[in-house]
Amino acid sequence: MAEDAHRNLIVTICSSKGGVGKTTLAANLGGLLADLGQRVLLVDADIQPTLSSYFELEHLAERGLTALMYDGDVDSCVSRTRAGCDIVLSDDPVGRLRDWILHTPDGRVRLRHLLEQLDFYDFIIVDTQGAVGPLQDAAVCAAQVLLSPIPPEILSAREFARGTLGMLERLRPMQFLGAPLGQLYGIINRMDRAGEASRIAEELKHESFAPSRGSIRILDTVIPASVAYREAATARMPIHRYEPARRGPMPSGRVVMTALVRELFPHVIVDGLQAEVQHGAT
Ligand SMILES: Nc1ncnc2c1ncn2[C@@H]1O[C@H](COP(=O)(O)OP(=O)(O)OP(=O)(O)O)[C@@H](O)[C@H]1O
Ligand SMILES: [Mg+2]
Repeated sequence: MAEDAHRNLIVTICSSKGGVGKTTLAANLGGLLADLGQRVLLVDADIQPTLSSYFELEHLAERGLTALMYDGDVDSCVSRTRAGCDIVLSDDPVGRLRDWILHTPDGRVRLRHLLEQLDFYDFIIVDTQGAVGPLQDAAVCAAQVLLSPIPPEILSAREFARGTLGMLERLRPMQFLGAPLGQLYGIINRMDRAGEASRIAEELKHESFAPSRGSIRILDTVIPASVAYREAATARMPIHRYEPARRGPMPSGRVVMTALVRELFPHVIVDGLQAEVQHGAT
């Protein structure tokens, strides 16, 4: 994935639907990577600033995403969370960025080119709103890795695959503006019935079979449905800290998230963290 070891990796969490777990995933992934010693920047590219208020802040920057996009002024736009990652806050409640992106010649690729220069970070994780629009386009175009939570029912998973692949197809010409699309990974999220996950993964492989339409790689890691994810958000903590271990057949948040990092970013060493939680694994 990384030809240049010093380059940051830009990961955009996206889907063509709302409420599938994007913000939860962005926060938990960012928080874990930070605890694994990675330098992480979160970017809240949703006009509803859910990720912006997920973690408590240690330092509040004067400005946020609009200033970053308008004049690329990183210093005044980066806040710091108590979870160990930096964050560019969403500061655009009325959606001015939408029009700005539409009317600026490099609008949709500006975010990519700005973020690529932030090589202080190992990971930049961009959260998006679950609706097609110019800001979501800009966030998708910025990514080397696209990560989409998939609902755990076959019908909505199939609809999801069509919607998300369609969204990417529309943006494919951005490669001519120096923004080739990243690989799309799907992760089944909020799974409540064991066994169903493999059926959904199979189904989606067929759905994305046509090579002209690009493809989704369905990750083996599955995030179970658990109130712990909501509770961790209420406690303003990443799930691996909130639920380091648990009893019963369901894997703890820490086991799930470290499995995800291991699968998606094999170059990140998770063993130090993992060693302490073996007893929580199933
Ligand atoms: N694995 C999970 N198990 C149970 N609940 C979950 C899980 N993941 C997320 N949730 C809950 O689902 C709800 C929606 O999650 P979230 O806000 O992350 O979705 P979203 O895709 O960002 O939504 P939006 O499109 O509105 O931005 C939240 O209440 C969250 O706590
Ligand atoms: Mg969200």
